[in-house]
Amino acid sequence: MIYNFDEIIDRNENRAAKYDERLKKFGTKDVIPLWVADMDFKTAQPIIDAMTKRAQEGIWGYTSRPDSYFKSICNWQLRRNGWKINEELVSWSLGVVPTLSTIVNLFSKKNDGILIQTPVYPEFYEVIEAWERTVLENKLIEKNGDWIINFADFEEKAKSAKIFILCSPHNPLGIVWEKDVLKKMADICIKNNVLIVSDEIHSDLIFHNKKHIPTATLSKEISEKVISCISGTKTFNLAGLQASTAVFPNADIKSKYDKFWQSLDIHRNNAFSSIAMEVAFNEGEEWLEQLLQYISGNFDFIKDYCEKYIPQIKPNLPDATYLVWLDCRKLNLDNEELRKFMIEKAKIGLNEGYCFGRNLSGFMRLNAACPRIILKKALSQLKEAVDNL
Ligand SMILES: Cc1ncc(COP(=O)(O)O)c(C=O)c1O
Repeated sequence: MIYNFDEIIDRNENRAAKYDERLKKFGTKDVIPLWVADMDFKTAQPIIDAMTKRAQEGIWGYTSRPDSYFKSICNWQLRRNGWKINEELVSWSLGVVPTLSTIVNLFSKKNDGILIQTPVYPEFYEVIEAWERTVLENKLIEKNGDWIINFADFEEKAKSAKIFILCSPHNPLGIVWEKDVLKKMADICIKNNVLIVSDEIHSDLIFHNKKHIPTATLSKEISEKVISCISGTKTFNLAGLQASTAVFPNADIKSKYDKFWQSLDIHRNNAFSSIAMEVAFNEGEEWLEQLLQYISGNFDFIKDYCEKYIPQIKPNLPDATYLVWLDCRKLNLDNEELRKFMIEKAKIGLNEGYCFGRNLSGFMRLNAACPRIILKKALSQLKEAVDNL
């Protein structure tokens, strides 16, 4: 089947957070929403068909999770990443962020250090601070648009860290970590007895012939120190269904995790996620391949447009995720001025760069997963606003 990613789907007044929460986030509905990380594309047809059938059943009682559910996920990882997962060490979760939060809660104590690499997905800070742990920031260093790890700092911070939350691939910089870099980070963690949590939610959204390497496949020794968070919600645009997967290094850690969720009586998929995820991983590949091509075209479009018409703004073309990190430092606006400029002048709703890294200034994040014509409109509004600055 050929999918049409140019189709514009009206998500207004549709309970889509990206649209309906504009007033709350930006103070106005009059912005093109290019913020929260979901896509303005319909998902794969086999998923829509399975969900339609499920909806028409008219009974959505307590829902079981057959063995075929985790099988579909493990098969996907084996097929795409060569990762042979032990199905006995896999748990369902409400989402990657709930998993991260639970791990911080269960496997560290108050004031313990939790290492992250910033700029990074803001919820990393939030789950650490929510449990009154200490954020240890290993700040990535920018060199001519590339962001690299300061390993001396990483090694120093690892000495006082209990957990390292790795974002692989990286949001918001779209970095697909190379094997030797991953290994170097993991080895430092092992040396310092730091538990590694590898958030791989974006690992199916890979471009430019890069290859995602699951952290748990680096070596046997490393796999014994890693909890991996994987999910189909970003890949197939199913975030509203709330289901992800955690893969544990051993039965002991898994049982502590499962016990926690059992104590809240949260251990079942909902009536829709149970079927949607399984169908996605079994039948969604054809759609995904076409999606990646389309998004890659969007990246090229953004790059060309900015080079030609808005040279003051430098987009970082990601090798993973559909999120484009915009370097707006040449506009010479402070963070508040830049935020207001995007909302009031350009009328586009972006994520502020400073939410991803404290003390960062002059960056914004743009979600490029929308029909190209919408991007074109957004960028032409941005051009006009920059021209008038
Ligand atoms: C790195 C990363 N982790 C986790 C999430 C959200 O995960 P979930 O919706 O499963 O809680 C996101 C969403 O953008 C993300 O970028």
